[in-house]
This record gives sequence, C-alpha cells and structure tokens, in this order.
Amino acid sequence: MNPDDDVCLCFHVSLRKIRAYMAREDPPVASLISECLGAGTGCRWCVPFLERLHRLHVDGREVDLPFSPEDYSARRSVYRATGQRPGDDDTDEESGAGSGDSVGH
Ligand code: FES
Repeated sequence: MNPDDDVCLCFHVSLRKIRAYMAREDPPVASLISECLGAGTGCRWCVPFLERLHRLHVDGREVDLPFSPEDYSARRSVYRATGQRPGDDDTDEESGAGSGDSVGH
C-alpha cells in the first residue's frame, strides 16, 4: 500500500495516518487505533488489518500491507456483500502465532 491509501475505507483513514498515530501514541493494544479518526469502528472490515499493522509496529517492522488499494477495496466489497472475508489466510488475524510472513506474493 502507499501511505495515502486508506486502510479504513469507512472513515478514510490512510496508512500514513495510522503510522503517525502509532509512532506518536505507541498504543499497547490494536483496538486503540480506533482513536485515530474512528478507524475500525464502521463495517469492521479493516480490523484484522489494523491488528496486523499494530503487530508490525510492536515488532519494529515496516508498517505496511501487501495489497493494492484496488484489491483491498474489492475484498471489502465481497466482505460487505457476503459477510465472508476472501483470502482469510492473508489477514493472519487473532492467531497470535507471530510468524506473519507467510503472505502470498
Ligand atoms: S473499513 Fe474500517 S470500519 Fe469499515
């Protein structure tokens, strides 16, 4: 993703804003990212991605998502239409395993 691409599409919260929020506030839990312009409090599509970005921040790694904005938005459309998350393995949500590097290329 590019910094100006939105991670939270409901509230137009860009990757840049989320990076700046985490750098400034160093939130101990991902749910606090909602304080950044309400990110994650709408349709909740972005919540696993916010958790992933938070994990990267905590680990001191590059805070980024390996999606184009078009792909990300298309996946959200599927989620909103069906309630299902396409490519669930990409989100690595709630596993807590910490590997996180096995994202498809
Ligand atoms: S995309 Fe973030 S709450 Fe809907």
